[in-house]
Amino acid sequence: MDSKKVYIKTHGCQMNEYDSSKMLDLLKSKQNFEIAESEDEADLLILNTCSIREKAQEKVFHQIGRWKKFKTKKPDLKIAIGGCVASQEGEKIVKRAPAVDVVFGPQTLHKLPELYEEKIKTDRTQIDISFPKLEKFNFLPSAEDPGPSAFVSVMEGCNKYCSFCVVPHTRGHEVSRNVIDILNEVSVLADGGAREIYFLGQNVNNFKGAYKGESASLAKLIELTAKIQNIERIRFTTSHPYEFRDDLVEVYDKVPELVSHVHLPVQSGSDRILRLMRRRYSVERYLDLIDKIRSIRPEMSFSSDFIVGFPNETEKDFAATMQVVEEVKFDESFSFIYSPRPNTSASEMSDNVGIEEKKERLEILQSRLTELSFGYSRRMVGTIQNCLITASSKKDPSELQARTVNNRIVNFKPRDFKVGDFVNLLIRDAYSNSLRGEVVNAVL
Ligand code: SAH
Ligand code: F3S
Repeated sequence: MDSKKVYIKTHGCQMNEYDSSKMLDLLKSKQNFEIAESEDEADLLILNTCSIREKAQEKVFHQIGRWKKFKTKKPDLKIAIGGCVASQEGEKIVKRAPAVDVVFGPQTLHKLPELYEEKIKTDRTQIDISFPKLEKFNFLPSAEDPGPSAFVSVMEGCNKYCSFCVVPHTRGHEVSRNVIDILNEVSVLADGGAREIYFLGQNVNNFKGAYKGESASLAKLIELTAKIQNIERIRFTTSHPYEFRDDLVEVYDKVPELVSHVHLPVQSGSDRILRLMRRRYSVERYLDLIDKIRSIRPEMSFSSDFIVGFPNETEKDFAATMQVVEEVKFDESFSFIYSPRPNTSASEMSDNVGIEEKKERLEILQSRLTELSFGYSRRMVGTIQNCLITASSKKDPSELQARTVNNRIVNFKPRDFKVGDFVNLLIRDAYSNSLRGEVVNAVL
């Protein structure tokens, strides 16, 4: 069979990146697809979409508009739309953009090869955005060449219904995978060269698996994973502060493979706004949790997500957010202007903060977050960091790129090292998006 070519464009979060890599694995193994170097040589164009904010959603229709033009030159070209916009909009996508051939959701991506085949056979547009619980994991092949750092999805969906968030509507309710299946997947990845495992879930710390007839939390899963040969680093994201239980805090004491960095989105520093957001924790509880983790691992760094300009957010609420930033001294964080999303309860509140006000707050917050983040980088200069080599440098292929524990990129001259090795690097310089290092032989 002649091989066809697929091009996938991914918007949004790490879960989407993971899903896209699984789509590729599937199409390669089931239908002999190869990866297209560019959009214009593809037989199948896939857009894995994100609907977390309005702008992300609008990008989808712009992209379809561009891709549609390729069909004039190549009438057999197919366009498939997956991810959260697909899940949210379903048939409406095809109504607005009839050039689309297949629409599938995050929970039906394993059906993509069949949907594509069916479209070719019948010439009828295929839409499947159902939520069959965890079924997809039984159909996904293992990654052939996972690279040194591999994502593993351990749970799907979310039932928190934070008032601003569309995720429970697009990805469905929380379902956790079986621990044995996850450990098997990790072992295969480790055999294929993975040294770092990145557990993914929308609300990953509420993972509720089963192991040897007993329930197993994320803490248990981390302990079991650390025992797998060659797995030397473990990360997980995204955590909700509400369910960050004591056993997970204690794992920082028990498992050295668990990195000293965690993404723990606070969203706002005002209790009043946190209540309106339905976040289920107070600022005090959030700060207590940070203290607890830091008392076990003083070197721990934290990153966060923030939303500014949530309905009813006053100057005073915003000042409270800035106060939390100063108390925690966050590392590399993300911040966004509130964006009303379909079906969410916040979208019914009157959005009474002016856009100029929102932009101003975002700028103040972001400039402080950037400053703090750069402060971390600067303080790393002169220290020796144990790093995992993840790729060749983008700018200079004679150099390699490695990642520190807090996930900073370090570029360096390789000597005898290669991708997948751990190396001790003396940090020489800090730039806004990366560090420069030099190989040292010191043992850490
Ligand atoms: N499960 C994660 C968040 C996933 S969404 C958690 O519990 O925090 C990723 C980030 O997008 C969120 O942390 C939030 O900061 C941002 N976000 C989500 N919905 C948003 C909206 N409607 N407007 C602006 N930002 C939003
Ligand atoms: Fe969204 Fe809140 Fe879940 S931010 S993903 S509803 S924890």
